[in-house]
Amino acid sequence: MITLRSAREIELMRRAGKITAAARALAGEMVKPGVTTREIDKAVYQFIKSQGAEPSFLNYNGYPASVCISVNDEIIHGIPGKRVLQEGDIVSVDVGAYIGGFHGDCAATYACGSISEEAQRLIDVTRQSFFEGIKNAREGMRISDIGHAVQEYVEANGFSVVREYVGHGVGRQMHESPEVPNYGAPGHGPKLLRGMTIAVEPMVNMGAAAIRQMPDGWTVKTADGKYAAHYENTILITSGEPELLTVPAP
Ligand code: MF3
Ligand code: CO
Repeated sequence: MITLRSAREIELMRRAGKITAAARALAGEMVKPGVTTREIDKAVYQFIKSQGAEPSFLNYNGYPASVCISVNDEIIHGIPGKRVLQEGDIVSVDVGAYIGGFHGDCAATYACGSISEEAQRLIDVTRQSFFEGIKNAREGMRISDIGHAVQEYVEANGFSVVREYVGHGVGRQMHESPEVPNYGAPGHGPKLLRGMTIAVEPMVNMGAAAIRQMPDGWTVKTADGKYAAHYENTILITSGEPELLTVPAP
């Protein structure tokens, strides 16, 4: 079942979204050579708590941290730890915050120091694929119209989209229906209606689309060892352009 939010619920989602986006920005600013991923996790935890919110990811299905930090060939769900970020790394940060009964969910990939031109292009194409996708996030269009646009843009730029993980409805639960794939033919899936809140989150691989699940039970890497990037915002379907509830990362 897809839930439509009332005006009051939308206000609460804006609040959750603002905190979530600020947590992402904080994490992104900390991405520098010599910083450990655990330090970023700690800072994000403290920030979210200082706002009166709860980190959505902490203990979610047993996940042990407040943020997912996925470096280079790690696509998503990297667990923060003692890894020291190096010049040239690309670092995907994914974070959720829960307050007032609602979740925000967002992600972005950040450059650690100076990175290769191709890695920067991967980050830029991934971010832009989100904006291409949400051109179709309009009342009356269908869920698969979003992913279709994401896939077209990514593949036109020579990269590939991950199939095994998808975007999702987000609200009282972090993961609600519908699923929001980043690929596929247009014109399928539920019709978009004003009041729907969804997380659109392209995961883009520089090489092949295939993934590899790590033995830690969480980290997902590219099968070919090439780099991957991620970009996500929580959005609200309106009568016009979608509203970004997690203010977009630069
Ligand atoms: N942020 C992920 C998503 O966008 C969910 C991460 S769940 C966690 O759907 F447990 F890994 F944190
Ligand atoms: Co998400």
